[in-house]
Amino acid sequence: MILFDRVSFCYNEKETSFILKGVSFSLQKGIINGLIGKNGCGKSTLARLIVGLLKPTEGEIQFKEENEDPNAYYFSGMIFQNPDNQIVGTTIGDDIAFGLENLNLPTENIEQLVVKAASLFGFEKMLDMPVSKLSGGQKQMLCIASVLALEPSWIVFDEPTSHLDPWARIEFWNIINYLVDNSNIGIIVISQLPEDIIHFGHISVLNEGCIIFNDSYDVFASLNQPPEGIDFPENIKLQRLLNN
Ligand SMILES: Nc1ncnc2c1ncn2[C@@H]1O[C@H](COP(=O)(O)OP(=O)(O)OP(=O)(O)O)[C@@H](O)[C@H]1O
Ligand SMILES: [Mg+2]
Repeated sequence: MILFDRVSFCYNEKETSFILKGVSFSLQKGIINGLIGKNGCGKSTLARLIVGLLKPTEGEIQFKEENEDPNAYYFSGMIFQNPDNQIVGTTIGDDIAFGLENLNLPTENIEQLVVKAASLFGFEKMLDMPVSKLSGGQKQMLCIASVLALEPSWIVFDEPTSHLDPWARIEFWNIINYLVDNSNIGIIVISQLPEDIIHFGHISVLNEGCIIFNDSYDVFASLNQPPEGIDFPENIKLQRLLNN
């Protein structure tokens, strides 16, 4: 579970308007957590706080799991919108190995972990392939493989589908659903696209520095009006018309 306990954040001390204003909410594993909200409302800032790239100005972000050592170390990974900003290796194998090499693991372990992560995406026979030969969708899969190799507790995907073609989007959601069903990794997906909302099991809506909705997809779909700054996806609109 990730628990935000009265978290406030501003980028610099002189700022009078906080990007996050005493936000308290929690997210669970085992479900796709969606984070939505209008442009500039602070979604990416919240993501950077979760993965530790930023620290809260006030309040605390806690990670806990049932039956786990209270001092357990939690690593969270992030998938950025543009894979080109995230890929650091020249070949598939190099890129997946990069983060592992920084952990100073023995070479044997690194090789095993690279193959394990690569095989989830069908990359295991392509480890020497230059990254420049990959499609946009394949590059994104490589970013996911490279983060998965580090065995994170949580992964935050920041607008992962916005630059993918429809086929790559289907593939993306297949991977996300596979991870939710077959791993113990917590998943958070930020998206502005109404068609992504149907994939979310839990939805958090950010508006003007506050979480104005934090509940299941079913509760979201049954609201009288969408939360501020959000429109219902077409399938929810259609369902509501059919129900009336
Ligand atoms: N490094 C930074 N320094 C100062 N202000 C920043 C910085 N990054 C973002 N901001 C400001 O913080 C606010 C929230 O930005 P953020 O990128 O978190 O929003 P977002 O919801 O992810 O937006 P988008 O939908 O465009 O991706 C914006 O007003 C933005 O201008
Ligand atoms: Mg953003």
